[in-house]
Formats: sequence, C-alpha cells, structure tokens
Amino acid sequence: MGPAVQTELDRRAREILRGNDRGSYTVPNGRVYPFQWNWDSAFVALGFASFDEDRAWREIETLFQAQWNDGFLPHIVFWRDDAGYFPGPAVWATGRTPPTSGITQPPVASSIVRSLWMRAHDKAAFRPRLETLFPKLLAWHRWFARVRDPLGKGLVLAIHPWETGRDNSPEWDAPSLAIDTSRVGVYQRRDTTHLDQSMRPTKAEYDRYLALVQFGRGTGWDQQRIAQENPFRVVDVGMTMVLLRANRDLLALAEELGRGQEADELRRFIARAEMGVGYLWDEQIESYCSRDVITGQFSGFVTSASFLSFYAGLQDDSRDRKMLAHLERIAERAKYLVPSLDPENEGFDSIRYWRGPVWAVVNYLVAIGLADSGHVSWADRVRSDTRALIESAGFYESYCPITGRGTGGGDFSWTAAMWLHWARNGRTNESK
Ligand code: GLC
Repeated sequence: MGPAVQTELDRRAREILRGNDRGSYTVPNGRVYPFQWNWDSAFVALGFASFDEDRAWREIETLFQAQWNDGFLPHIVFWRDDAGYFPGPAVWATGRTPPTSGITQPPVASSIVRSLWMRAHDKAAFRPRLETLFPKLLAWHRWFARVRDPLGKGLVLAIHPWETGRDNSPEWDAPSLAIDTSRVGVYQRRDTTHLDQSMRPTKAEYDRYLALVQFGRGTGWDQQRIAQENPFRVVDVGMTMVLLRANRDLLALAEELGRGQEADELRRFIARAEMGVGYLWDEQIESYCSRDVITGQFSGFVTSASFLSFYAGLQDDSRDRKMLAHLERIAERAKYLVPSLDPENEGFDSIRYWRGPVWAVVNYLVAIGLADSGHVSWADRVRSDTRALIESAGFYESYCPITGRGTGGGDFSWTAAMWLHWARNGRTNESK
C-alpha cells in the first residue's frame, strides 16, 4: 500500500471517530448503535489517543461516570434517548441516572487505560487522571470477583449473550434453549430495519434475549440474585481471558502508583484464575471454550475468543501448541484471520453475526497475545489480515473471512480506532 492510500485511510478513520463523537463519548455507529457502549468506548479511546490524548482519556472517564455504586459497569449508557433503538432505557428500567442497561461487557478498560498511560508523553499531566480511574477500575474487577465468579475459580459468569460482546455466537445456542420465552410479548426490533436481516439474529434468538432482560428487570436488577437464578448462566471464555489480562494490567498500574495492598489483591485474583481456567479446557476439541454452569456442558466450539488464551498470559506449552494447531488449520480455510467461528464447524456462516465474520477488535486482542507469547509471525498475520480487510472494504463492523466483504454496519468507530492504533502499523507490540 502506498503512503497516499495510508494517509487517506488515516483521514477517513479520524473522520469516522469525529463523526461518531457526541462530545464526551462516542457512539459505535450513529444509526445502528446510538449510545455509549462499554467495550467499544475503551477501544475507541485507543483511536483517539493517536491524535487527541485528552479526548481519549475523556472517553473512559465518561464511561465510568455511569458506574453503579457496587462497581458494576453497564454495557450501554443511554446519555440521550433515541427512539431508533430497541431495547432502549424504558425496557431495561434499571432506574439509574444516567439510564443504563443492567448487564456488563468484557472488561478491557484496565488494559486500555494501561496502554494510554504507557504512551502518554506528559506523565505528570495524566497521572492525576490515572489516580482517579484506578479505584473505579479496581471496583469493577472486584465486582466480577464478588458477583460473577460463582465457582470461585477466577472465571467470569455471563448472564446474557450480549454481555460477552459476541452476542450471537453459537456458544450460546444450547444454554439458551432452556429460556422460557412464553411471556415475552410483542415488540418491534430496530436492528433489522438498519441492517441486512440475513446477517442478524433470528426471532427465536431475539425472544430469548428479551426474556433475559425481563428476568433481570423482574429481580429489580439484583445482581447477586441474577447470578444465582438466571436461566442463562455460562462461563464465557472471552470475558474470562479478558479479565485475567485486565487484572495483570491493573496490577502493573497498582505497582506504578505504589498501591501495595491493591497489588496483592490483584495477585490473588490472577493466581485464582490461573488455577481455575482449566475448567474451560475442552479435551474433546482440544481447545478453550465457554461452558454452561447449569449443565456443566462445554460449548464445544472453537471461536475467535478461544485464542484469547495467549492474551490472558496463560503459559501452557501443550495447550498453546494445540491452540496454534487450530489457528493453522483455520488459516487454511479462511483467507482472513480470525473468523468468529471455526470454518470447519457446520454452523459456520461467513456473514452472520458472530458465526463467522472477523472483528478487528478481537483480532487486536488475539494479536497482542500472540506477540507477547513469542508467536510474532502469527501476530503479524492477524494484523496484516485486518489491515487488508480495512483497505479493501472500508471501516465495517465486521468482515466476511472468505471474501473480505464488509458485514454489519459501516463507519464503525472501533474499527476506525483499531486502524489508527494498530492495523496501520508495522508490528503488534503493546506491553513491551
Ligand atoms: C454488537 C456487538 C457488541 C458491540 C455492540 C456495539 O452488539 O456484538 O460486541 O459492543 O454491537 O458495537
């Protein structure tokens, strides 16, 4: 790619971020997702950091303004209502100001704050902001440990597919079957008016999503009760790996800030997860995957989230070799890494939401993990595939791993951010 094309893509990416910027937070995409989303904002901050550091920190600070008193950080903050989205604040009915959803999302924020901190040129200017964010990040991690680790293994329980950020993954199909949808009632979806129906979840799936929202609402969003009684209770491999990494990154920040006690607490979280993560290793498929806590069943799917084991910093030679063998096998089937589902799986659908398409943000996390654990050429492959997808299709929500065509919404904030922060560059090199 010539420098002119690169400059043009840089310009476009910045234009997308500015266009989706609502002042102190950024919407993932103005039409389809008109609010602040939790993990989207964290990734978006990295994009801003390439041209406006202050705005980057502000994005995370705004997100944490919506944190609940117990440390919970919602997956959507409804700063302004928008009739074009369903389910909106009235359906969630969490009774918060600002209005929020009642479920969370993968906790990438601490890792991203660490990354913002490491690249900050004027450390003195940003240190007070780091000091203010630190206890909020820790409170969220503590919330996971207290409320979402029913097995006491340092893993993350998801109570809604939307929490995992991989909303429509086949990993949630079997665990969702037991959800009673008989009282869901009539509702009007909005996603299918903005997006191609063939790429979106089915009506039966959507009914289950809503039944879970209604269950949470019925408890008055009592998170302890939901974690014990919810009809969907799955340990998510993605959130578990992300939290383990986030605990390591927050530990580095605790050390930097001289917070010894908190550092010890984080070390305990990390040790517990390292001991407990074997719960997610499925011998049958020789891969990490999610696992239903109610039935004890493994999902049995190799997904893009399975490869986050490297990102989590798990060092297990034998399992690492098996995960790399999966990656190699998948790379022979898919032109672009990393498809959200193993292309050899019969449920693989190259354009349907989280059942095939590639997401730039997941690729970024996978690539950091591969680079950190010494698999540099794989990390480069994941980065250059992401770059090629963006170059040829533009800044889509996701991409078909076979043809490279864009899928989902266009002008997507986190894809633009991943371009600016990572895909455009020569190497994946985050924490070293
Ligand atoms: C979809 C994705 C989720 C993301 C949201 C906003 O729901 O599955 O991960 O946070 O869109 O981009």
